[in-house]
Amino acid sequence: MNPLLRGTAAAALLLALNVKAQETTGTTTASPSATQACPTVLTPSYPAPVVARGWKAQLIATGLSRPRSIKFDTNGALLVLEAGKGLTHLTFTDDGGTCLSLQSNTSLITDGELNHGLELSEDGQTIYVSTQEYVDSYSYDVDAVSLENPTRLVANMTNPGTGHVSRTLLLSKKQPGLLLVSRGSATNIDPLAADESTGVSQVRAFNISSAADLERPYSYPTDGLLVGWGLRNSVGVAEHPVTGGVYSVENSADNVVRLSTDIHEDNPGEELNFHGFLDDASTLGANHGYPACFALWNTTRFPSLGDDLTVGSQFSLDNNATHNDTDCARRTTAPRLTFQAHTAPLDIKFSPSGDAAFISFHGSWNRAIPVGYKLSLVSFAADRGEPAEPPDSVTAARDVMTAPDVSACSAQGGRGAGCFRPVGLAFDAAGERLFLSSDATGEIWVVMRDGAGGGGGGGGDGGATGTDSGASTTSTGAAAGGLRYQGFRGEGWAVVLLTAIMMAAGGLVFVG
Ligand SMILES: *[C@@H]1O[C@H](CO)[C@@H](O)[C@H](O)[C@H]1NC(C)=O
Ligand SMILES: *[C@@H]1O[C@H](CO)[C@@H](O)[C@H](O)[C@H]1NC(C)=O
Ligand SMILES: *[C@@H]1O[C@H](CO)[C@@H](O)[C@H](O)[C@H]1NC(C)=O
Ligand SMILES: *[C@@H]1O[C@H](CO)[C@@H](O)[C@H](O)[C@H]1NC(C)=O
Ligand SMILES: *[C@@H]1O[C@H](CO)[C@@H](O)[C@H](O)[C@H]1NC(C)=O
Ligand SMILES: *[C@@H]1O[C@H](CO)[C@@H](O)[C@H](O)[C@H]1NC(C)=O
Repeated sequence: MNPLLRGTAAAALLLALNVKAQETTGTTTASPSATQACPTVLTPSYPAPVVARGWKAQLIATGLSRPRSIKFDTNGALLVLEAGKGLTHLTFTDDGGTCLSLQSNTSLITDGELNHGLELSEDGQTIYVSTQEYVDSYSYDVDAVSLENPTRLVANMTNPGTGHVSRTLLLSKKQPGLLLVSRGSATNIDPLAADESTGVSQVRAFNISSAADLERPYSYPTDGLLVGWGLRNSVGVAEHPVTGGVYSVENSADNVVRLSTDIHEDNPGEELNFHGFLDDASTLGANHGYPACFALWNTTRFPSLGDDLTVGSQFSLDNNATHNDTDCARRTTAPRLTFQAHTAPLDIKFSPSGDAAFISFHGSWNRAIPVGYKLSLVSFAADRGEPAEPPDSVTAARDVMTAPDVSACSAQGGRGAGCFRPVGLAFDAAGERLFLSSDATGEIWVVMRDGAGGGGGGGGDGGATGTDSGASTTSTGAAAGGLRYQGFRGEGWAVVLLTAIMMAAGGLVFVG
């Protein structure tokens, strides 16, 4: 018997015998929703993430191969892009709440070149995947769980010397048929990005509504609509569900020096950039600064701060006759929000109502004390489609799920499996449960508001106990819903962890 099935069978047996999972796992739960304990709790092989008050979370799958983007199909199966492996179709036994366990595991595409991007058409019948070079589509038979008719839609995306390799995909809901593709830089500070015609460090949109008529794939640098440029590596891209405003989260530069002073520990900040509206080309195409201008995060001891620079201001690495702060302010568009340097935001997903954006922070490598390794929430004014906090806020990103001891996350140079490293985010159809992948640990987790969605309490004896401020001292802000952290044992998100122990070694380069 397949070990997976054996696990499920054992879990079913436990359920049948009505064995109290609280006893078998040694867990105590204070959560009212946990009256019926989940029989299928998985325990991570490292200190479990903790959740903010008001949330619960659980590990629901392990053994994946660097899972990156995830997406639910129209039958409720989870499609997982496993970097260096292909595309996998997972189904779960769903006992409600965060209580899920893996039911089936089917390979849809075996292709070691696939490394991040994944999209699904609104009707669920076309799947899109990316490599560093191209975007392909496949016709998807959701009932037969099979693909056919591979079609190349976009090509010419490889950077000289490789560099950043992920090519995030987003299909617009407001402008059906427009596929947004994000491409990062070749190097840390890449001069090619200063030349718009290179296509480097941009988000572009391609009209794929009549893909069958394409004589050749779109060529990334020259075709399509420029959504934004001067974006070092904007891995997460999202469209606000109410206004249709397009946002992306940018991974800014490492080892940065300004006016001969090393400022890299806390600067430049990671960015939330606003790009405009896809139905009005005049709002699109701004230059967001890179590789000449960067966003200020920490103003303490910042060289030549002056009176004009504050959190979120664009700054130059030098102040001379050709490169200076004044020129950055005049010529480039500052972020809508700035986040702690090196936290490495990799995905952004809006809540269905548009009142919040969830952001996965993969975590740092270019910093003495690690930061990131968390899922955060940024409040939005749903009707305006804008962040609730002003651009100079340092508390806009509130922690939902974090490593209990972020200093332990530096194992293997910050790329190890010592902590969860969140990447892809996906809401299920009801919009209540948020699923997330962790590439370094090969897992899928689920988190949700405590009290929502019925039974299946959080659990797991791997749950760390809460800490008071933990991440918030080094993070972008306070915990969502309060300053106290609670472990799996308390109220909070039950994290459903699907743990696949995977090596991060040899993982994606330049994540930070
Ligand atoms: C899915 O199956 C493959 C091949 O049988 C296996 O290597 C992989 O670990 C499985 N994935 C999960 C999440 O169980
Ligand atoms: C995409 O192209 C089709 C024609 O091929 C056109 O009808 C449609 O309006 C275009 N969509 C957008 C968003 O420009
Ligand atoms: C890629 O770019 C080259 C040079 O600009 C061009 O000749 C070629 O046709 C492009 N390839 C595709 C698939 O568009
Ligand atoms: C900026 O750095 C100082 C000194 O290292 C630190 O006390 C402060 O909390 C930091 N501020 C932010 C917003 O990270
Ligand atoms: C001005 O600063 C830029 C950015 O650091 C640098 O590349 C350039 O060489 C400097 N120019 C002069 C004249 O020093
Ligand atoms: C700043 O740079 C701009 C454009 O590169 C230049 O026109 C301007 O004179 C510079 N300002 C100073 C004070 O050197």
